[in-house]
Amino acid sequence: MFSCFQSGEQNRMRHVIEEAVTCLMKSTKSHGKIAVADLGCSSGPNALALVSCAVDAIFQHYAVACEQVPAELSVFLNDLPDNDFNIVAKSLVAFQESHQHIGHVTVGIVPGSFYKRLFTTSSLHLILASNSVHWLSEAPEDLRTHGIPMYDGDDDLRQARRPLVLEAYARQFKKDFKLFLNLRAQELVAGGQMVISVPGTCAGDDTGHSNLPWVAWDPVASILNDMATRGVIDREKLDLFYIPTHGPSARELKEIIEEEGSFMINKMLVHEPNMDKSLITPKAMALLTRAVFEPMMAQHFGKSDEIMEELVKTTERHVNMGSPPVNAATFVFLCVSLTKM
Ligand SMILES: C[S@@+](CC[C@H](N)C(=O)[O-])C[C@H]1O[C@@H](n2cnc3c(N)ncnc32)[C@H](O)[C@@H]1O
Repeated sequence: MFSCFQSGEQNRMRHVIEEAVTCLMKSTKSHGKIAVADLGCSSGPNALALVSCAVDAIFQHYAVACEQVPAELSVFLNDLPDNDFNIVAKSLVAFQESHQHIGHVTVGIVPGSFYKRLFTTSSLHLILASNSVHWLSEAPEDLRTHGIPMYDGDDDLRQARRPLVLEAYARQFKKDFKLFLNLRAQELVAGGQMVISVPGTCAGDDTGHSNLPWVAWDPVASILNDMATRGVIDREKLDLFYIPTHGPSARELKEIIEEEGSFMINKMLVHEPNMDKSLITPKAMALLTRAVFEPMMAQHFGKSDEIMEELVKTTERHVNMGSPPVNAATFVFLCVSLTKM
């Protein structure tokens, strides 16, 4: 279900990537070399989907223009060092071989955080990122240093602190995303393109930043709170556990891009997740929640089958009671296409 959910969004990006390639061909001189990178590629069946779409669009451009394809086309895939790059490496080589008859494609894996420099200055022409930049570099600093939990067990305290918690998350996202833009601007050539899709919220655009309801961690935090109340996980540990994600609104994203100042916004699309609703069963939701949160929960609460099985059961129960781990009413995907100025 997870890969289908993501591939739905990647398909939606296809057209925007093709437009970015057209724009790139008009605005930059590639000198026979084009380099494309996907940041936060993961290792599943979708790992090569975006770069593959970009490479097809580049070759298509040259075919239509009856021009010689670039002498060197480089494709890079990035993710955190813990990612399973074995599968990615095999798929990359298969991809390279399947394109041999069209042009010379070199491939590379770049492990590391996209909150650091990953590529040399002015070496990339097109950067892609789908469903990855909502992961923060760390839990919101203000909450950690003041010992404020993301989800207080006490209902009144939680309601009272909610604006403060949401603002801390929004502030951390702003800091991280500005850094991300700045680093990528250094790595792109002038006129280089970037297409990013990020899960976000449609609510903040109507209600203002301080009321931003988050789309992912809130319901999951309530599931964890339920588990702590029953003693399945330790309350004190839960109070120190922060899910480091933030789903921005379109306005929030636009303001950060404009404030950072390295990129011009070509286009921003806001749409609901594109997926087959029949796949969203309580069990599938519960397994998806486990797939996303197991690594960070194991790190924080300790590796435990019992905790994971309880997470699945509790999530299923919450979904059956009408509170799914994703708030469908406000959950959207934001797809933004940018040109480096
Ligand atoms: C939900 S997956 C998305 C995978 C793929 N892009 C897709 O759309 O199917 C998010 C990926 O972002 C990666 N990620 C999160 N933070 C990252 C960081 N700071 N640097 C690089 N990758 C990161 C995760 O490891 C994960 O593989």
